[in-house]
Amino acid sequence: MAWMLPARSASPDATRALAARLAGVARRGDVIVLQGSLGAGKTTFAQGFARGLGVEGPVTSPTFTLVRQYPCTLGQLVHVDVYRLDHLSEVADLGLADLVEEGVALVEWGDAARPALGPVTWTVDITRVGTGAGTAAGSVGTGARTGTADDERLLTVHGEDDARRGEVASALAGQVPGAA
Ligand SMILES: Nc1ncnc2c1ncn2[C@@H]1O[C@H](COP(=O)(O)OP(=O)(O)O)[C@@H](O)[C@H]1O
Ligand SMILES: [Mg+2]
Repeated sequence: MAWMLPARSASPDATRALAARLAGVARRGDVIVLQGSLGAGKTTFAQGFARGLGVEGPVTSPTFTLVRQYPCTLGQLVHVDVYRLDHLSEVADLGLADLVEEGVALVEWGDAARPALGPVTWTVDITRVGTGAGTAAGSVGTGARTGTADDERLLTVHGEDDARRGEVASALAGQVPGAA
């Protein structure tokens, strides 16, 4: 049965830490869709997720290449960014199903539907929480990167497989698998 688990993030680093913990319960063959508007934090999440899979070096948005691959502890981390709808056919051409056999796929997606994708393990929805004129005005001139209302995000992990709900819940709660 479908399930969903929410988590709050108060900063970019908190999002990265959360993503790294989720990566700890990812498996080879998993496809994870990151959904949210521009600037929500999809690439930031991808950075933490990659770190959690032992990827060293910078993880940046695959804006011009559509897809980037990084060697990781589960094989290859395939990072895709579908930031324009005309990339849909290109995503279909990528043969993600084949790619993901060699590792894990992270697909950044805008608000669009996802007909080009096959089965998705988790969908992570990232939304801003404290948006509004007030928060925008409040951050003017402070230069602060963390701790402002502007940095608050709600991350909701959606899945289909009941068997994996528990480990995602533990990961979100900060319980590192195998640590206890
Ligand atoms: N809690 C948070 N989680 C993720 N990003 C955040 C958070 N708070 C602020 N940010 C900032 O929001 C921006 C998100 O950008 P990015 O990850 O590239 O978004 P997207 O890939 O969804 O377009 C970054 O500048 C990041 O530092
Ligand atoms: Mg991005």
